Amino acid sequence: MAKARVAVLISGGGTNMAALLYAAKRPDSPYEVVLVASNNPDAEGLKLAQAEGVATFAQSHVGLKRVDHDEIMHNHITKAGAAYVVLAGYMRILSESFVEKWDGRMLNIHPSLLPKYTGLHTHQRAIDAGDSVAGCSVHLVTADLDEGPLLGQMEVAVLPNDTADSLAERVKIAEHQLYPRTLADYVSRATDPDYLTSKVREIALAQPEADEVVSH
Ligand code: GRF
Repeated sequence: MAKARVAVLISGGGTNMAALLYAAKRPDSPYEVVLVASNNPDAEGLKLAQAEGVATFAQSHVGLKRVDHDEIMHNHITKAGAAYVVLAGYMRILSESFVEKWDGRMLNIHPSLLPKYTGLHTHQRAIDAGDSVAGCSVHLVTADLDEGPLLGQMEVAVLPNDTADSLAERVKIAEHQLYPRTLADYVSRATDPDYLTSKVREIALAQPEADEVVSH
């Protein structure tokens, strides 16, 4: 079975990108990373991707309109033959047209148990709220920031002496477990008979006067 081709977008250290990349080295991985792209030419993660033999691309957003920058990224992603875009610490708000082009095929990871704490400073907010549990979420990207359909979550206990940094460090460990697994499950849906049957059923039952009868 051909592996799903994935482009990972980063802006910084890229530890999630690394987790995705190393998980993809398993022979049974249903996806492969064909491109690591960044809006930050100095992103540390680019060096790692290069060293691992993955194609990289960087285009600074400075001085470019958001739509124009997104268009350049989109062109490179499609040129690499990617079928999915995976955001991993990509610190850019995306234009509506980019989000539309990758509708249903773009994932993001966020360091909170969504719908709690969209946006920034998630760890401090969890600590300030006295939460006993924090965590991370993988979701599909839609026009609303951090609000697309959830694909997976992992809880992380908050320790009594946690600071935002110590909690962030543990949440990252969870992120590195959650993201590759969730991505693998998501791209595998296209060949999963149960998923395909449920889709067919959904479409069929949405027809006027449709009914379901068990056949023998
Ligand atoms: C992660 O905490 C992720 O949840 C958020 O950005 C951070 C990226 O970290 N979206 P890294 O670059 O993958 O280490």
